[in-house]
Amino acid sequence: MSTHGSIQRLSTGVVELDRTIGGGIPEGFFVAITGEPGTGKTILCIHFTWQGVVDGDLCIYVTTEESRASIMRQAAQFGFNLEKAVDDRRLVIVDALMGLEDQWSLKSLEMEELVSKVIEAKKSLGYGRARLIVDSLSAFWLDRPAMARRYSYFAKKVLAKWDFTILATSQYAITTSDAFGFGLEHIADGIIRFRRSVKAGRLRRYVLVEKMRQTPHSLNMHEITIVDGKGLIIIGPTESRREDVSLPREVTEKMMEAKRLKEEEIS
Ligand SMILES: Nc1ncnc2c1ncn2[C@@H]1O[C@H](COP(=O)(O)OP(=O)(O)OP(=O)(O)O)[C@@H](O)[C@H]1O
Ligand SMILES: [Mg+2]
Repeated sequence: MSTHGSIQRLSTGVVELDRTIGGGIPEGFFVAITGEPGTGKTILCIHFTWQGVVDGDLCIYVTTEESRASIMRQAAQFGFNLEKAVDDRRLVIVDALMGLEDQWSLKSLEMEELVSKVIEAKKSLGYGRARLIVDSLSAFWLDRPAMARRYSYFAKKVLAKWDFTILATSQYAITTSDAFGFGLEHIADGIIRFRRSVKAGRLRRYVLVEKMRQTPHSLNMHEITIVDGKGLIIIGPTESRREDVSLPREVTEKMMEAKRLKEEEIS
């Protein structure tokens, strides 16, 4: 944890990323993590959670696309023992995928249910600074994207009273270059965007801090890598222009065309 002015900042668990945002995420912030599949969103969530455990924060991790076991296995590959954190009552992993009957499962992807389950988890963990990770939040408005703004506003408002710093992921729609349910991005105090591209036949991944209120953050896109046994690592700033990391224009056009035809077919 470090300060910038009088702001308390929480380490993300990725040292070089902390450096690009003035030491960490300001306490109480609601930060959106967006990006295409496989770019590192969940892995950043895992780092942030583990750092919380290390720093003595109480942590709640809500997983909608992977099971609780899958998150624990992924964490273990980087040497993070989330299972022990759960046993030590420092962490609750809420599973919204498997439809299990235990106390820490969600039976439906309803915003109200999410918020009340998170509050229940916070009460059970006890008093103290807390981290909430929702991976993904956009799962809660999948069938009603128009609700994105209202839902994220509701979550931010209600959970603000509970001493949380929140990291929430959202999928990225390549056809429109909008994070799915764009409303989230205005409500969020910060946006960390992951991207990918293929260069010389090799997949590359990048991270860009697009917004971090009250922070003189880096404006550079950084190339990242994911390393077995370690996790997410920042290689360094890249000179790439936007065109270098987005899909070629012909590809985007083809996708838009396909989307238009599909919509015509439906109507
Ligand atoms: N142990 C590991 N060693 C090296 N790379 C790994 C390891 N585990 C995962 N990865 C890499 O991380 C990628 C997954 O990253 P992550 O789960 O964070 O993606 P994501 O952005 O959350 O994607 P999605 O939107 O599909 O959930 C894998 O595709 C793989 O390339
Ligand atoms: Mg993920």
